[in-house]
Amino acid sequence: MSDDAIQSVLQENRQFPPSEAFSADAHISSDEQYQEMWQRAKDDPDGFWGELARENLDWIEPFDQVSEGDMPDTKWFTGGKLNVTQNCLDRHLDNWRKNKAAIIWEGEPGDTRVLRYQDLHREVCRFANVLKQLGVETGDRVTLYMPMIPELAIAMLACARIGAVHSIIFGGFSADAVAERNNDAQAKLVVTADAGWRRGKELPLKAAVDKSLEKSPSVEKVVVVRRTGYEVEMVPDRDYWWHDLVETASTECEATPLDSEHPLFILYTSGSTGKPKGVLHTTAGYLLGTTMTSRWVFDLKDDDTYWCTADIGWITGHSYIVYGPLANGATTVMYEGAPNWPDEGRFWQIVEKYGVSIFYTAPTAIRAFIKWGDDWPGQADLSSLRLLGTVGEPINPEAWMWYHRVIGGERCPIVDTWWQTETGGIMISPLPGATATKPGSCTRPLPGIVPEIVTKDGQSLGDNQGGLLVMKQPWPSMLRTLYGDHDRFLETYFSEIPGCYFAGDGARRDEDGYYWIMGRVDDVLNVAGHRLSTMEIESALVAHPKVAEAAVVGFPHDLKGEGICCFVTMTVEDDSEELKAELTSHVREQIGAIATPDQIRFAAAVPKTRSGKIMRRLLRDIAAGREQIGDTTTLEDYTVLAKLREEEE
Ligand code: PRX
Repeated sequence: MSDDAIQSVLQENRQFPPSEAFSADAHISSDEQYQEMWQRAKDDPDGFWGELARENLDWIEPFDQVSEGDMPDTKWFTGGKLNVTQNCLDRHLDNWRKNKAAIIWEGEPGDTRVLRYQDLHREVCRFANVLKQLGVETGDRVTLYMPMIPELAIAMLACARIGAVHSIIFGGFSADAVAERNNDAQAKLVVTADAGWRRGKELPLKAAVDKSLEKSPSVEKVVVVRRTGYEVEMVPDRDYWWHDLVETASTECEATPLDSEHPLFILYTSGSTGKPKGVLHTTAGYLLGTTMTSRWVFDLKDDDTYWCTADIGWITGHSYIVYGPLANGATTVMYEGAPNWPDEGRFWQIVEKYGVSIFYTAPTAIRAFIKWGDDWPGQADLSSLRLLGTVGEPINPEAWMWYHRVIGGERCPIVDTWWQTETGGIMISPLPGATATKPGSCTRPLPGIVPEIVTKDGQSLGDNQGGLLVMKQPWPSMLRTLYGDHDRFLETYFSEIPGCYFAGDGARRDEDGYYWIMGRVDDVLNVAGHRLSTMEIESALVAHPKVAEAAVVGFPHDLKGEGICCFVTMTVEDDSEELKAELTSHVREQIGAIATPDQIRFAAAVPKTRSGKIMRRLLRDIAAGREQIGDTTTLEDYTVLAKLREEEE
């Protein structure tokens, strides 16, 4: 093994081939078909993507060239003109889908709304007219800081209708975060709501916008949706109620023809250092990527009811609640609230209520479900489900098996989808009718995606050698720049491994060509000269029946360079020294002596950012003794520290 390789210790040999019945009906129905598509896309990317773009997108003017220029500055479908909303809405109106449910929305308090394709089209046109009336022009940036309500999807699509660039800020961010993003994007208008519901409480949004505007002078107007009835202050000539504006707006608004490379949206994502990065996606490439991956990976059919539980404030919601499903004419479920409100069975009640057939969620949620117990899903009828998905972090094999058994009834394929804000769409994932899955692996690259595992010096590594995951060929839905900072874009993604896209993950490829993501490389430990993925140790810990959740970080260690510190939350009330010893030997047993934990700390909860990512920097500081929480020696509670740190993580 090369010195640069990351040592991979996860052993997982179970395999789950697709059932014949699933394959028979699937869009991609055999391994041969996948192999053939992948090879063709690799050998002739322009032929492959060009054909897909012509066949699957509606163009106002056809493109002249499929791709132009090398990575990182590749342009796609140049010369073409189109509008994303024509592809997501108008083209479903001249056939039977006009009365199909586009969005089935469930509010946290239990109120519901169904928007058929023609309803959604009307609402989008109305709000597009409102935006124009308020002075928003093609190319202007619009901030959307909203709860998970239909108006969020409507506002996104309304921006796309007129070529305004939306920048969605997750509703859990603070006023300062909104101000920073408004300023970076030089946003002209903000759409928000009085408040949103979260576990029965109102989360004030308009008040945070008011505060943010003290520091972000580019914003001229604010549109406010009335959601909860929470009291707000309305500034004359600046603030307008959504319902007042749309009341008089026309339900017709012609879609603006836009260049393929016209910016569609900015989405801010945190980097390892510095201010948030404004990832910019453009029109045609992003639309093609999300359209095709939705169809291939989720095997979307007209009779599916599809539910992605992400918040639209993150890329998963952009690509796989809104753009991808709607471009396919699918029915997409949108839920406003928390999975444990009013009780821990809420998700499963929603699955039963709407007969959800495809369910897409995150491993962190799955681990919470496991902790809450099998009774909750057991009380609901989950027989409508036919396909399950996960995204956002590596899924430990035990959680995968639980998902397969308890939620999927051992009948639903699981698609573990690897991708990033920057990639726009899914990159590495099983195709449910073609790929035999292995718990914990996101399996193989989709057609058109050419990954490689390399050392820090860019040398290719062989099977089962852990290294850096890079992309060797450009793909249509990749980010085009970091808004306003092209140098940072080049530096962040293309300088580490020249000629390749690299966005921070370590991985290995096994002898079957399957990829195993080992987490961010900044989460990689170097213990006595061996590089270990924190995720693999976490996975081992979570496999212990008494462990609910685990987070592993390194800390400076005199002898080994870096020591292993494990923060664990338990399923039982036990924080004894005996249990520590038991867990230590459990990890040694699962992985080997090299991974023996140096510290095991029992936590009331693993501290997380609002986006659900473990606050590793905070944990590293605690592990290293740079951050103290008093003299608690047993069950440590990091809530206060986590709150203090929220902004900087
Ligand atoms: O580390 C990978 C992890 O999430 C990162 C991207 O985060 P974000 O841009 O917030 O997008 C999340 C939703 C697409 C990746 O660099 N990640 C995402 N999906 C997986 C994953 N890690 C392992 N397996 C996955 N399926």
